[in-house]
Amino acid sequence: MKSSSSLQRRLGLGLTLGVTLLWLVATLASGLVVRNELDEAFDSALEETAQRILPLAVTEIVNREEPLLPQQIAMLRPHTELLSYLVRDADGNVLLQSHDVDPALFDARPRTGFRTLDHHRLYGESAVSDTIFIEVAEPLAHRRNATWDAVMALLLPLLLLIPVSLLGIWLLVRFSLQSVLAYKGAIEARGAGDLSPVTAARLPAEIEPVAQAVNQLMERLRRALESERSFTANSAHELRTPLAAALAQVQRLRRETPGGPLQQRADQIESALRRLVRLSEKLMQLAKAEGGALVSAEPHDVVPVLRHVVEECRRAFDGRTPELSVPGQTPVFTTLDVDAFAILVRNLLENALKYGDEQQPVRVCLSQTGVLRVSNGGPVVPEAVLAGLTARFSRAPGTHSATHSGIKAGSGLGLAIVEAIARGAGTSLTLHSPASNRQDGFEAMVQLPQQG
Ligand SMILES: Nc1ncnc2c1ncn2[C@@H]1O[C@H](COP(=O)(O)OP(=O)(O)O)[C@@H](O)[C@H]1O
Ligand SMILES: [Mg+2]
Repeated sequence: MKSSSSLQRRLGLGLTLGVTLLWLVATLASGLVVRNELDEAFDSALEETAQRILPLAVTEIVNREEPLLPQQIAMLRPHTELLSYLVRDADGNVLLQSHDVDPALFDARPRTGFRTLDHHRLYGESAVSDTIFIEVAEPLAHRRNATWDAVMALLLPLLLLIPVSLLGIWLLVRFSLQSVLAYKGAIEARGAGDLSPVTAARLPAEIEPVAQAVNQLMERLRRALESERSFTANSAHELRTPLAAALAQVQRLRRETPGGPLQQRADQIESALRRLVRLSEKLMQLAKAEGGALVSAEPHDVVPVLRHVVEECRRAFDGRTPELSVPGQTPVFTTLDVDAFAILVRNLLENALKYGDEQQPVRVCLSQTGVLRVSNGGPVVPEAVLAGLTARFSRAPGTHSATHSGIKAGSGLGLAIVEAIARGAGTSLTLHSPASNRQDGFEAMVQLPQQG
């Protein structure tokens, strides 16, 4: 899967790049317009200058004693000359020139009108029936500098614009996404079993439909799970009465039949019916385990419940007594529902007594911190098998040989029930083999939920 990229980053970079490009294009366009306008203004100044100087020059030349003698206009104050001019007669003899003029710029004979050289713009004008000409020259660098200054003035703000735009968009997107992030947090914070609608305050209009769709989906999921659970519970419940009736009839039949094969068959039917009864019980437990409401508001002491279940199992398993270890006289509090806790312990104990090595003790240990461990001896269960044991109807291979008849024939639901209870209470079931502090055996561990 492609890693998801941040919207903040994408918008920040994309928009900044876009704005920068547009700005550059706008600067280029304005540069061209400014250059045209400046050219027009400078040309007009050049023309104006020529036309103002020429009549003065003509008057001066005509009033001279020696009109053809070239004369240079004296410099009043030292300065750099941007506009330089040359006044000549039609043959190109210089009559008057500005102090800094470079005569090499001009053609041999004077010309009127505008023309552009490599580095200068020239304008020529004539007077006295084309006998006296003036040509004014202006360096092009002057115009270029002016255009360049205008372009730079437009480019400089870009240096500020890029970081400001990046930061601004980053902040704006962050601000706009705040409710989306809160929504994400609300989804993450809920437990796996919580299918109630997610409430989100003021989501952006683009995200709102997604949140609605999620809520609808969860509602459908919740109803589907609910109907599955109630179906399981109802069917198990409905099976109870006819099963009890059938069992009673079979027991009567068995008593009334003489010994021999008929009696054996009646025995087989009875044990099959007992398995069915146990299966329906387990299905009811599973429905309860998956039904939620496994956590009570007030914590309560579970040590008495634990003692009671251990005693119950001792009687069911012909007096094999599990070793119970609880922290002295102090109570152990948990918020796990009492019935659910009893179902959980009963299933773990049943398994330990059924599948554990009968020569080795079964240990039930509840720590002060609410860690419940049920362990037994017996062969090590491989890691790969262990991981699959909590699935519904899964049994480790080899445990259900012909010798495992009667109470040993399991439904494969016990660990699924324990896991459903643990998950529903916000904790988890961990299986270890070999058991801790042992070379072999099996151990199931659940951290009971505690307040806070
Ligand atoms: N304490 C245990 N020691 C060894 N094997 C166990 C133990 N508990 C469970 N198992 C294995 O896990 C399987 C699933 O257990 P469970 O879900 O309780 O179903 P069931 O007991 O009905 O077979 C059992 O069939 C057994 O192979
Ligand atoms: Mg079991």
